Amino acid sequence: MTRVWYVKPEHPDPAVLAEAASILRRGGLVAFPTETVYGLGADATSSRAVQGIFRAKGRPPDNPLIVHFADAGDLPSLSAAARRLAASFWPGPLTLVIPRVPALAPEVSCGLDTLAVRVPDHPVARELIRRAGVPLAAPSANRSGRPSPTTGEHVLADLEGLIDGLLDAGPTRVGLESTVLDLTVDPPAVLRPGGLSLEDLQRVLPGAHVAGPTAGPARSPGIRHRHYAPRARVVPVEGAASGARATLKAMVIRLRGEGLRVGALVTAELAGADLKADVVRAMGSRADLAAVAAGLYAGLRAVDEAGVDVILVESDFPAAGLGRAIQDRLARAADLVPGPPPGSGIQ
Ligand code: TXA
Ligand code: MG
Repeated sequence: MTRVWYVKPEHPDPAVLAEAASILRRGGLVAFPTETVYGLGADATSSRAVQGIFRAKGRPPDNPLIVHFADAGDLPSLSAAARRLAASFWPGPLTLVIPRVPALAPEVSCGLDTLAVRVPDHPVARELIRRAGVPLAAPSANRSGRPSPTTGEHVLADLEGLIDGLLDAGPTRVGLESTVLDLTVDPPAVLRPGGLSLEDLQRVLPGAHVAGPTAGPARSPGIRHRHYAPRARVVPVEGAASGARATLKAMVIRLRGEGLRVGALVTAELAGADLKADVVRAMGSRADLAAVAAGLYAGLRAVDEAGVDVILVESDFPAAGLGRAIQDRLARAADLVPGPPPGSGIQ
C-alpha cells in the first residue's frame, strides 16, 4: 500500500517527515517533490533499497541513478570546478557527474566508474534527506519511459501500490529534470539539457558544451532509451508560431479524417484558435519558456488521458535557454532520437 501525505511545500509537518524518513532508513521507497520533478527516493547506501527502485519503475538495469544530498558540504571531496558550480547553482537543477564514491551502493552507478549527484532546491526534499540521515538515490518517480511526474497525482498514476509512500506538496516549479553535466571529461559535457540553461552554466564554466552523439557505450546510458513518452503517438509540429496555425489545423483535419482521435498541446497563443482537435491543452505562453517547461509533462499526460491516438505538439521553440531542454524532451517523447543498434541488448 502507498501512504500519501499532503504537506505544505515551505512548512512540511515535521512528524510526517520523520515518518517518511524512517521508512527510507528501513529500506523503503518514498516519492518526494524537488524543484524539477518528483523523485522516487531510496537509501543510496543500501543495495537492497536501490534495487527496489529499479523494480518499482521497471527501469533498465543499465541506467544509473542520481544521488541527492541535503547540502554540498555533505559530499566527499569535490574538484575545484565542482565546488565552483556547487557554490553558484546548488541547491538547484544541476546534476554533476563525478568519480564514483565507494560508500554508496554500487547499483546507483550501474557498473560505471562515475556517480551523478545533486542538491535539490525544495524544502521538503532537503529536510527529508537530513532526517533520513543518508543520501537518497532518486530517479524521476514515473514508470520507466513515461513522462516525469510534476504532481503527486502523476506519481500515483504510475506507481500507486508499488511504493511505500508519497509526500505530495503540489506541482513542481521547473517541470523538467535537472541538467546533467559530466565533469569527468575534458571539456565538461552536458549529457542532458535541463532546468539550468547552458548559458547560465557557461557563465561559471565557459568550456562546458552539449555532448554530441557518441560512438560506443553512451556516457549517460539513460538517454538512449525512449523516454518521457505518453501512450499516444507524439508528433512535434514546426511552424505553428509563424502564422501557421493553418499547418496545425490541416494536420488535425487530415488525421481525424483517418478516423484518429487527435489531441493538440500548444502554447497559450494558439490554444484559443479553432484547431478542430478532439482535445486542446495550453502549456503556457511562447513568451515565457519557463511556463512552457512547467506545463509540458502535465500537458502530455492530460491529453493522453483523454484517450487520443495522436498528440500534435507545438514545437518550434528557440534552441537557447530552456528551449534546448524542451526541444530535447519533445524529440524523445516522439522517439525521434536515434537509439542503440538493434540487438545491442539495450532497449
Ligand atoms: O531533476 C532530476 O534530475 C530528477 C529529480 C528527481 O532529481 N531526477 C531524474 O533522475 O531525472 P532520472 O534517473 O530520471 O535521470 C537521471 C539521468 C539519466 O539520464 C541517467 O542516465 C543520468 O542521469 N545519469 C545518472 N548517473 C549517471 C552517471 N554516473 N553518468 C552519466 N549519466 C548518469
Ligand atoms: Mg527519469
